[in-house]
Amino acid sequence: MTSPSNSMLPTQVKIVEVGPRDGLQNEKQQISAADKIKLIELLSDAGIRYIESGSFVSPKWVPQMATSTDVFKGINRKSNVTYAALTPNMKGFEAAVAVNATEVAIFGAASEAFSQKNINCSIAESLARFAPIMLAAKQANIPVRGYVSCVVGCPYEGDIDPEQVALVAEKLYQMGCYEISLGDTIGVGTPLSVQKMLQAVSARVPTAKLAVHFHDTYGQALTNIYTALQNGISVIDSSIAGSGGCPYAKGASGNVATEDVVYLLNGLNIKTDIDLNKLVQAGWFISDKLGKAPSSKVSNAYRSQE
Ligand code: HMG
Ligand code: MG
Repeated sequence: MTSPSNSMLPTQVKIVEVGPRDGLQNEKQQISAADKIKLIELLSDAGIRYIESGSFVSPKWVPQMATSTDVFKGINRKSNVTYAALTPNMKGFEAAVAVNATEVAIFGAASEAFSQKNINCSIAESLARFAPIMLAAKQANIPVRGYVSCVVGCPYEGDIDPEQVALVAEKLYQMGCYEISLGDTIGVGTPLSVQKMLQAVSARVPTAKLAVHFHDTYGQALTNIYTALQNGISVIDSSIAGSGGCPYAKGASGNVATEDVVYLLNGLNIKTDIDLNKLVQAGWFISDKLGKAPSSKVSNAYRSQE
């Protein structure tokens, strides 16, 4: 019997931990700034080197993120960790700069309807709003990451044309985003649709500049990640304990759990420098605060063996 070859897979993967932002933004249970800070510090202790720690959006739209200023101010920072913030406009960017966010992220969509629901403007208007952020970030030497939401499907428009995803990703890249994170916001992708989308985007943006961001609504996130690895992607977004969802995508579940991704990567001998035991503890810490078990299968398996 032949064993599957790892030769097509990357040897090292960067995990972008989005739990404190994407994970918590959609949780009903209000989490205090102190507990968010504790979570972020547990994550960095576990070896996570990139933590999206909050967002500077309207507190009327996303109340859970209203404490982001306190969170950023309170983190006991490590010099080798990136503490990033989501910023939809200049007001958000200025707030992020005021608390020394290491990086910011702008977020657009491949779907017009989702763009309207999420950030109250069209795709073209969103790109125009991002332009001054790109300029100010360049002047302040702050790297900007770009998100594209609804890269496979949209809760309002259904299937999304891969070419449309590629066009928006290319625009963000041309505007100066150093990396484009491709978000399957409602978790509808399967290996085939994900592969088609990645091929279309890779024709316009170098694969080395792409990241994948899978929500796990239909339980396809890990297999989609494996597909992405086979397609040369080496940056993966994930959320501790699989928490969260998107407030503007009803029914969408959280991101793929970081614990499950690290377990997969360990099994593939792909280096992450993350301590899975510590990661599991971080997941249980925040899950206890949320009053529920992690949706991570790995976390639950570890707990049952304790
Ligand atoms: P708007 O109403 O069109 O904007 O919202 P506006 O400029 O007219 O401002 C309205 C009010 O918001 C004003 O306050 C502003 O001061 C305030 P008021 O006068 O009514 O008291 N405001 C702000 N407050 C704090 N921070 C700001 C800010 N900007 C304006 N930066 C806006 C436009 C983008 C602000 C709004 O639509 C918004 O905040 N949306 C939230 C979007 C969001 O956070 N969505 C979830 C994150 S995206 C996501 O999860 C997807 C992702 O994970 C990838 C994936 O999975 O696909 C990234
Ligand atoms: Mg997301």
